Amino acid sequence: ILNKTAGVFKPSKRKVYEFLRSFNFHPGTPFLHKIVLGIETSCDDTAAAVVDETGNVLGEAIHSQTEVHLKTGGIIPPVAQQLHRENIQRTVQEILSASSISPSDLSAIATTIKPGLALSLGVGLSFSLQLVGQLKKPFIPIHHMEAHALTITLTNKVEFPFFVLLISGGHCLLALVQGVSDFLLLGKSLDIAPGDMLDKVARRLSLIKHPECSIMSGGKAIEHLAKQGNRFHFDTTPPLQCAKNCDFSFTGLQHLLNKIIIQKEKEEGIEQGQILSSAADIAAAVQHITACHIVKRTHRAILFCKQRNLLPQNNTVLVASGGVASNFYIHGALEILTNATQCTLLCPPPRLCTDNGIMIA
Ligand code: KG4
Ligand code: ZN
Repeated sequence: ILNKTAGVFKPSKRKVYEFLRSFNFHPGTPFLHKIVLGIETSCDDTAAAVVDETGNVLGEAIHSQTEVHLKTGGIIPPVAQQLHRENIQRTVQEILSASSISPSDLSAIATTIKPGLALSLGVGLSFSLQLVGQLKKPFIPIHHMEAHALTITLTNKVEFPFFVLLISGGHCLLALVQGVSDFLLLGKSLDIAPGDMLDKVARRLSLIKHPECSIMSGGKAIEHLAKQGNRFHFDTTPPLQCAKNCDFSFTGLQHLLNKIIIQKEKEEGIEQGQILSSAADIAAAVQHITACHIVKRTHRAILFCKQRNLLPQNNTVLVASGGVASNFYIHGALEILTNATQCTLLCPPPRLCTDNGIMIA
């Protein structure tokens, strides 16, 4: 296992299914439940969880690096790697002792192997492989996006196929989930993810210096300020209006916002780094355009799948996940869309929406 996985080995679907089938349910004998340790280090959170075969979360811990990366103005991969190294052992030990599980009770170790920051992924992978070697347990390589997409099945009874919209700082994709490991990719960002764009705009607006937003992520700060702003002060059209596909794009929006901010700084006679009096209006505008763009592309995807008879007769579920999906304004806009297209909008609870160890386990 060690040798094969070191070369980012992915087992055949048959092997994975064989392994999963070996999980049996034993009513009344909880200690016979198989227990999986999940480890996630694909970006800037060191997360781990132990989950049993019935979906019970026995223990969970996340060590967030957000505060450090906020100070450096973005994720610096070697810094993220170092923080993962410092925290991974502690994070795993914490959940094992909190849930009174000894490493030998584990049935398998599941770890994110892709996609993500190579330096960050490497920490989780080498830690897991060391553990796998010591404990002689099976290793389950996990695709981070598949884990995000299937998380909803932990909290809701959802039938395949369902739509999944993953919108966060590192992800932007829209897919039809037809089964475990069976995804029809309908759209993705051609450049950056929406959360990345919101973080960049928030940074350009220096929202970290805003007394109400200093410890918020960029997207959260934009949402907070947008409530006090007027989106109509900056009216622009969403990107890719004429593109006949379901892809997304956010770089153009970021450049447009930069221009608007430079113009406003001139008008208000302030330097870059000071807070504009129109910051709330800009936040409201960028939040609105982002919502419109996401909804329009998702609408196209729903229409496409309906036209191709890819959807069931009854209600189809749209699962919206990722940090950006926790935005109330964007969530509200998606709800309008799902109501209009006879779909049902579901969102995993916020703690499962963002990167976590449970989804990996
Ligand atoms: O899913 P997540 O925790 O991590 C990954 O990126 O994988 O998402 C973090 C991203 C950040 O870009 C953050 O600015 C954005 O989600 N975000 C939000 C909100 N909360 C977090 N964006 C818009 N509105 C929010 N309330
Ligand atoms: Zn993620």
